[in-house]
Amino acid sequence: MPDETIIERSLALAGERAGDITPQVYERLFARHPDMLALFVRDKTGSVRGEMLARTIDVILDFAQANSYGENFVRCEVVTHEGYGVPREVFPNFFTAITEVLRDVLGTDWSPGMEREWTALLSRLNALCEPA
Ligand code: HEM
Repeated sequence: MPDETIIERSLALAGERAGDITPQVYERLFARHPDMLALFVRDKTGSVRGEMLARTIDVILDFAQANSYGENFVRCEVVTHEGYGVPREVFPNFFTAITEVLRDVLGTDWSPGMEREWTALLSRLNALCEPA
């Protein structure tokens, strides 16, 4: 299905161009939510940040396609993370930070189709973060 291919393609291209996008994503997130940085106090090596982004990309890919677990997983993580001190309102900005980094890294290769599909996906993802 073309829509899903566009999401996958944008992630794959960004990986080819920039390698690991973890630092850029968290830089954007912390620029918007400086208070969140302190919550990563145990993450001395950056491995938690890396693992969290990898899991998030996996869940986004599932949610964009089969949605075999993605929707439930995001809803669960929102609740689990409240226990870490992460307000649910931060989640949409994390998803947005990922999208913005992809857009930046792809530059002129960021297509209108990518813009359209990511915008639609963000709105579906953000809906999962609303209180029940
Ligand atoms: C769908 C979105 C998210 C997913 C799937 C996710 C997933 C995860 C996972 C798997 C871990 C454990 C990583 C490890 O220990 O190796 C983790 C930890 C953590 N996440 Fe997220 N996360 C998400 C969103 C967020 C957001 C938006 C924040 C806000 C900054 C956040 C803050 C944290 C923090 C502070 C920890 C470390 C907690 C600790 O010290 O044990 N997460 N996350």
